[in-house]
Order: sequence, then C-alpha cells, then structure tokens
Amino acid sequence: MIVRATPEAVKRAAQLLRGGELVAFPTETVYGLGGDATSEQAVARIFEAKGRPRFNPLIVHVPDLAEAEALALFDERARAAAERFWPGPLSLVLPRRPASGLSLLASAGLDTVALRAPAHPVAQELLRAAGRPIAAPSANRSGRVSATTAAHVDDEFGDAIALILDAGPCSIGIESTVVDLTGVVPSLLRPGGVPVETLAGLFGRIETPAPGDAAPRAPGRLASHYAPNLPLRLNATAARPGEALLAFGPEAPPGFTEVLFLSRSGDPAEAAANLFMMLRRLDRPEEFAAIAIMPIPEQGLGRAINDRLARAAAPRPPSPGYRPRRSGS
Ligand code: TXA
Ligand code: MG
Repeated sequence: MIVRATPEAVKRAAQLLRGGELVAFPTETVYGLGGDATSEQAVARIFEAKGRPRFNPLIVHVPDLAEAEALALFDERARAAAERFWPGPLSLVLPRRPASGLSLLASAGLDTVALRAPAHPVAQELLRAAGRPIAAPSANRSGRVSATTAAHVDDEFGDAIALILDAGPCSIGIESTVVDLTGVVPSLLRPGGVPVETLAGLFGRIETPAPGDAAPRAPGRLASHYAPNLPLRLNATAARPGEALLAFGPEAPPGFTEVLFLSRSGDPAEAAANLFMMLRRLDRPEEFAAIAIMPIPEQGLGRAINDRLARAAAPRPPSPGYRPRRSGS
C-alpha cells in the first residue's frame, strides 16, 4: 500500500518496522526496502521479498555517526569520511562490533558491515522514530532496475510489503557509493552517489578495482568469507559418528550428537533467519566432528541457503579426527 509520507504515516511505518514488518521508504539515492537490522527474521524476509539468489550483505541505515559508532569500529579515516559525507550517499564497510546486536544475515556472515546515514528527511525521521538500525537494499526484485518512485516499488512488490512511504522521486536515483575501509588502502566496491574523485580528495589514495579484479573481494563469493571451523556435510540423510545436525522439517534422523532445527515446518524463510546463528552455535570442534545439514529444497530462500552452504562447505584443510568422504546425495 502506498501512503504519502506524512508524520503520522512515518510513525506507523516505524511501528511496523519494530514489529518485524518490511517498509519501503525514500532515500536521496533510491527507495529502500527496510527491515529491522537487529532481527534475523526481518532480514530474512528482505531476502525473500527481493528473491535474491544469494545472501549479499545489506546496507544498514542509521541516522548519524553517533549511532553508527555503536555498530562498527571507526578509525580516524572512517570518521573523517562520515563527517564529510553524512548524511549522504556514501556507505562505509567497516569491522562490525561483536556486540552490535545486528543480524548475522544482514552481513551475510561477514565480520564487516556496510553503514550509511541517508540524507532524505523522511528516511531520517523514520530511522529516529524506529529507534533501531534498518537494513535496506534497493527496493527492487533481484536483478531488476532500482526503484526511484513509490509506484516503481509498488510494481515490484505490491502487497508483499506492509507499507510504501511515498515522498516523490528520489533526488539522486542511483545507489550510494560503497567504500571498503577495512584494508590499508580504501577500496571502491561500488561507484555511486559520491563521485570517486571526491573520495580520492579525502583519502588521498583509493583502489578502484576493475570489475574482473573485484570478484575475489565481492562479498559472499568465497567460502573463506564464511568459514565455520568444523567441516560441513550437505544433504545428510543419516548420521555419521560425532556429527551435529542442522535439521530441516519436522523430524531428524536418529544418531546425531546434537540437533538444531532450522525450521520444523519446512519454511525456507524461517530456515534462512536461523542459518548463520545456528551454524555458529554448532561450530564446536572440541565436541563435534562435523556439522551435517539435511537437504533443503531448491525453492524460494532455499536456493539462497543452498548457495551459501555450498560455499561454506567448499574444500578446506580437514580438522583433527575428520576423514573426508564423498558427500552423500
Ligand atoms: O543507495 C543505497 O545504498 C541504497 C539505499 C536504499 O540506501 N541501498 C542499496 O543497498 O543499494 P543494496 O543492498 O542494494 O546494496 C548493497 C551493496 C552491495 O553491493 C553489497 O555487496 C555491498 O553493498 N555490501 C554490503 N555490505 C557489505 C560488506 N559487509 N562488505 C562488502 N560489501 C558490502
Ligand atoms: Mg540493489
């Protein structure tokens, strides 16, 4: 439902966000599909609504630098960038604070987080009213053109989202510039609203990888970006010695040392919301030989889960006591 972004509508939108619902809202770059960044469930819903084939990390939106510093570690360089360009179309990739309270799924399992303080007055009002960080990718279905009006958002999602706040067309219309500040030299991950020349003025030097070079740094592409200590065994239908199990569906096969249920009802969105959290909970090499995972259907978020798991299960040095075998089918 499209609603003009009056102060009352913004308050309602903030309530919906606090209740775990998705709300589309205007920013100066593009419309964002917002969800509570501290809720695994809300963030899983964003991936589901977008139909993202993989868990790309999302940009987390905050009203200002002070709020951002509670979520990530800012060095002087990052602080200078935020002071110069925030609120505005710049997203900074920084190390997550361990106690940030942010959803693991929002960062796609990375130890970093992309943060942005948008300048649009409606976005500002909404973030302050929600009182929590808001994860918001561009409000378009995966692979489609970004939405820069409320009507575009409605075309993309219709009633799949609770509310669309309408404040007319976005002034910038392309997404924010994304800069990775976790390395020695700042690296441009996505060109956008702040021209790279302007950034170079601030940083002195900035890596601008060619599209081909960017691949290894692009999040979620390498298994090493999310590597549990224990080996993973996919499509498990029976127990092997010492294994813990991530179950999908109402029943787990017998014989596992410990079992966590991704979703007893077989709901891929619920499984996605639990995935990173439960993998971490079972990642105890002193107790288990491996983490086995039951087959997850290649439907809806199941595709994204399987894509993520395939990379997390990619070959790596075996841990003590683990004997690699052919994976089951
Ligand atoms: O202008 C924008 O940035 C819009 C508005 C709504 O704020 N948002 C947006 O979000 O474009 P999204 O999710 O469509 O784009 C996120 C980009 C992706 O290229 C993603 O790979 C990158 O930011 N990104 C997010 N977190 C990252 C991280 N921890 N490390 C590296 N890249 C990250
Ligand atoms: Mg996008």
